[in-house]
Amino acid sequence: MSAKTQEVKQAFLDALSKIEKMEDLEKIRVEYTGKKGYVTELLKEMKSLSHEEKKTFGQEVNVLKNEVNDAISQKREELERKQIELENSLMPEFDISMPADLKRGSYHPITLVQRQCEEVFKSMGFAVEDYSEIVTDYECFEALNIPKDHPARDMQDTYYLENGQLLKSHTSAAQNAIYKKYKDALVNEGKAIKAIFPGRCFRNEATDACHENTFFQMEGVMVDKDISISNLIFFMKTMLSEVFQKDIKVRLRPGFFPFVEPGFELDISCLICGGEGCPSCKHSGWLELCPCGMIHPRVLEEGGIDPEEYTGFAFGLGLTRLAMMKYGVKDIRDLNSGSLKTLSQFTDDK
Ligand code: DAH
Repeated sequence: MSAKTQEVKQAFLDALSKIEKMEDLEKIRVEYTGKKGYVTELLKEMKSLSHEEKKTFGQEVNVLKNEVNDAISQKREELERKQIELENSLMPEFDISMPADLKRGSYHPITLVQRQCEEVFKSMGFAVEDYSEIVTDYECFEALNIPKDHPARDMQDTYYLENGQLLKSHTSAAQNAIYKKYKDALVNEGKAIKAIFPGRCFRNEATDACHENTFFQMEGVMVDKDISISNLIFFMKTMLSEVFQKDIKVRLRPGFFPFVEPGFELDISCLICGGEGCPSCKHSGWLELCPCGMIHPRVLEEGGIDPEEYTGFAFGLGLTRLAMMKYGVKDIRDLNSGSLKTLSQFTDDK
């Protein structure tokens, strides 16, 4: 090994032996193997050498470069190991004999409301279904009579994944799969399709007291022969009076959703201001709680159900809104805040 190479190597080893921190290790890595590092600079000396000398010197520098890299990797592992040992030594020992003095946690208000709704619908013979948060464009839109470029998509702008899938913008995205799952029992055994599917939904929203980019809905569908709007109204009223444990003022007005015909908005009188008007109800005294309607024949068809023979209703209950009404939460953002101080207020009826 040439004196020059030997000198660089020795200087490196001396420097390395003094390193105790990861940042310093990175510094000497750059100092030696970086573009202008000592090892790289050695190669510049080759210019003045003969052809034969260049070959041996080149090999020598390469060997040194590998040695330096290996030594740095080893040192990195050693420092990482030391760091873990240090962290472990700082962890308090777990004392199994210590008295448990922890406050118990509580369910999130949305979970509480969701479970209540599930119980009510289960008692009326509905199945509770689970559905994924990542869905296809077909499930979220196409199968629901919302073709590409339909203006209804604007209000449901959501988060798209690189593979073309998306985070579901409404629980209606599960409808198609539910029809397909239960259609045979409907046709062959005459079993009505009665299912609810609660879930987390996502939208590209400018957030304020009543809008969030992440919220919860609970979709419900019922399909059978001769299902009518009266059935829909009956189920909705029963559910609301059970959840609120009192008579709730509701109003039904026409609403447009491509997957139902006719479609309605079911509003409840705002329970926060008693119908007087406040920021939570956009000062109208009413809150849109449950859009609903009679399932569009095309949507049934997409689900493999003959719309000439069967009809049904669907609803999309805003679970987040319902929780806000029930617990008097004025700002929707509190629900996703993760703030224990806020959330622990809603522990009354676990
Ligand atoms: N999926 C709609 C939304 O999030 C809500 C909705 C409207 C659901 C009407 C329904 C329905 O099932 O019938 O905006």
